[in-house]
Amino acid sequence: MLGSGFIARFYAESLHAQRRKDRVVMVYSRNEENAKRYASDYDLPHYTTDMNEAIAHPDVDVVLISLPNDLHEMAVMACVEAKKNVICTKPLGRTAAEAKRMLDAVEGAGIFAGYLEDLCYTPKFLKSVASVKNGDVGDVLWTKSREAHPGPHSDWFWDKERSGGGAIIDLGCHCVEISRNFIGKNIKPMEVMCWADTQVHPIDAEDHAIGLVKFANGAIGQFEVSWTFRGGMDLRDEVMGTEGTIWVNSFLRTGFEMFSTGKGNEGYVAEKAETATGWLFPVGDEAHELGYPHMFTDMFSAMEEGREPLETFYDGYIVNAILDAAFKSAETKQWEPILIEDWRGDAPEDSQRQWESYDEENYLIKEEILPNGDVNLILKNKATGKVFKKVTQAD
Ligand SMILES: NC(=O)c1ccc[n+]([C@@H]2O[C@H](COP(=O)([O-])OP(=O)(O)OC[C@H]3O[C@@H](n4cnc5c(N)ncnc54)[C@H](O)[C@@H]3O)[C@@H](O)[C@H]2O)c1
Repeated sequence: MLGSGFIARFYAESLHAQRRKDRVVMVYSRNEENAKRYASDYDLPHYTTDMNEAIAHPDVDVVLISLPNDLHEMAVMACVEAKKNVICTKPLGRTAAEAKRMLDAVEGAGIFAGYLEDLCYTPKFLKSVASVKNGDVGDVLWTKSREAHPGPHSDWFWDKERSGGGAIIDLGCHCVEISRNFIGKNIKPMEVMCWADTQVHPIDAEDHAIGLVKFANGAIGQFEVSWTFRGGMDLRDEVMGTEGTIWVNSFLRTGFEMFSTGKGNEGYVAEKAETATGWLFPVGDEAHELGYPHMFTDMFSAMEEGREPLETFYDGYIVNAILDAAFKSAETKQWEPILIEDWRGDAPEDSQRQWESYDEENYLIKEEILPNGDVNLILKNKATGKVFKKVTQAD
């Protein structure tokens, strides 16, 4: 484990939870006290303040990067150098250029590499993606993913140089990858329109943004990210398809509601919850609701089975490429193209959608049953373009 902060603790708790066989055996932290405390909290045999020593340790099968965004590339390169398998937290890079260098390096070295995008592994998400793949909602037209909370817990997030940006890089990476999973990773993301502003916090980066990612098949992936939202952590996804709809609420409403006057000990309720009194929305097993156990199961199974995990460094690179375009669009106020050097999915022209036919001559625009039982069909003649109504009367 490289790093001993917030996410390193979530990861260790997910890994050591219940009866899992996977163990953290070594932690690196630049601060010896933190390394020692982490090793003691999770019962690790080894700790160090030397990153290369941690990576090279013979008991280490895979290195887990839990460091601030500006250190991901350096840490990945150290794993490449040592030929150690690596899994890296999100975002992969601060920019697509950084992510591409990491992608090329791990592929060149032939080591296993996984992108730790936990929100693409929540049980609700995995089931909704399975429904989408099964065709239950038809062709996906629009996805919406929101992550909003009052702002992160560590100084470096707020420093644009170290983090690579504000809410867009920190939270947008999740939302964009959620949309890609729903719309289809083989469908090329083409361009982005994004509004971003710094509305509340005195920082150089944006603390609030809304963006639209246009895909080659015409689908739109909308992201809504904020470090200004009050009231906890809002994690919601929506899918609108030609045959159905999905709404998922992953955190603020998981079916657990509680009221407290605050007379007892005011304690921890859930990540980013702002209060411990009044009506509260705790989360039963946060790690589970946030997807960490399923994510590690996929990562380590993939490693053992010699296959790619669901979320790869290539995915991390595509996410960074989309976010680069979002930052640019926020500046230029124009749709900006997504620049991808090595597109591995379908050619954009192969993703065009076909209109639904009613018969040889006509397209079907709409079908509706009226209160009197009649069925109205709105059709369009393919040759002439004329729109007309056909009514089938109820018996
Ligand atoms: N849902 C998620 O997947 C999720 C959630 C939170 C954070 N993260 C990611 O995890 C990474 C770490 O975030 P965090 O919330 O744990 O941050 P944090 O500040 O809580 O922890 C960062 C760790 O890195 C160490 N560190 C900081 N600067 C360092 C330096 N110059 N050299 C060596 N070590 C240094 C800190 O001491 C600490 O151990 C980030 O990339 C963040 O985006 C992912």
